[in-house]
Amino acid sequence: MFENFGRTRIFALAVGLMLMAAACGGGSRIIPPHDPSLPPHVAEAANGERLFKNESCSACHSTGARRITGPGLAVIDSAAATRDSDLTADQYIEQSIRNPGEFIVDGFNNIMPKTYSRLPQDDVDDVIAYLKILE
Ligand code: HEC
Repeated sequence: MFENFGRTRIFALAVGLMLMAAACGGGSRIIPPHDPSLPPHVAEAANGERLFKNESCSACHSTGARRITGPGLAVIDSAAATRDSDLTADQYIEQSIRNPGEFIVDGFNNIMPKTYSRLPQDDVDDVIAYLKILE
């Protein structure tokens, strides 16, 4: 009887640890999904521009060619398509925002904050839409 109780607790603990590992260890897979009860999101560059300033992207990135701490993003639309052959331009930009350490642009350091993985999907889509109209 005692033995069973012990096993159940150990099992519960193991399941708990596995769930925690799944929740924390996934790294790049903690993306908040689009709320399915809402209509599909139509990406809005104007909101992306607002986020680019409010989230301090602009502290490290110019929207022209000028290098600050990070690369200028004027030609990110075409550059993004060439960075990783497994990713579309949109996927690459999203990865750069959520998981910047995954691909380090030549000549730059891995110092972009990883905290943007918390951004809701709709906001990331808006930022991508904004970055793609830069020239
Ligand atoms: C503290 C400085 C810093 C902040 C803040 C920052 N970045 Fe970056 N970012 C960098 C650096 C440095 C790189 C280049 C190294 C790398 O690839 O991670 C980079 C890379 C990128 C790239 C890839 C550029 C390319 O040419 O491939 C994109 C896109 C990007 N950042 C977007 C953003 C967006 C959007 C935000 C705000 C949500 C942001 N960054 C905030 C420093 C920053």
